[in-house]
Amino acid sequence: MISNKELLAMAEEARANAYAPYSKFQVGAALLAQNGTVYKGCNVENVSYGATICAERTAFVKAISSGETAFSKIAVAIEEGERIVPCGMCLQFMIEFGDIDVVFEDGKGGIVEKKLSELMPFSFDKSYLEK
Ligand code: THU
Repeated sequence: MISNKELLAMAEEARANAYAPYSKFQVGAALLAQNGTVYKGCNVENVSYGATICAERTAFVKAISSGETAFSKIAVAIEEGERIVPCGMCLQFMIEFGDIDVVFEDGKGGIVEKKLSELMPFSFDKSYLEK
C-alpha cells in the first residue's frame, strides 16, 4: 500500500514536467487508482491562457483515457512544504469520477487528506439533469 507521503513525492516528481512559462507556478499531481496504478500529471499552460490545463485534470485525463475507472486518492504538490488546494474547476472535474480523497501538504509540516465533497460540498451533479 502506497503511503500519502509516497504519493506526494510522486506528485512532486510529476511537477518537474510542468509547462508553466506564463505563471511560473508549477504543479504536480499523482492519482492513485484502486488497482494500485499511479497516473502522474502536471499543469500545461498555453499562450491563450484559458486553454491551460491543471495538473489534477491532466492526471485524470491520462487515467480515464487509459481505461481506468476506479480511483482512491490524488496527491497534489507545489514546492515541498507548501500548501496547494485544487481549484474549483478541478474539484468539479474530479468529483465526476467519485468522491475520492485529496492529499496535500498543510504548509506547516503536515499532510492533509480530505474528501472532494469536503472541499466542494455543493458540486453540480447529474441529479440536476434528471429533473
Ligand atoms: N494550477 C494547477 O495546476 N492546479 C490547481 O489546482 C491550481 C492551478 C495551475 C494552473 C496554472 O498553470 C497555474 O497553476 C497558475 O494558476
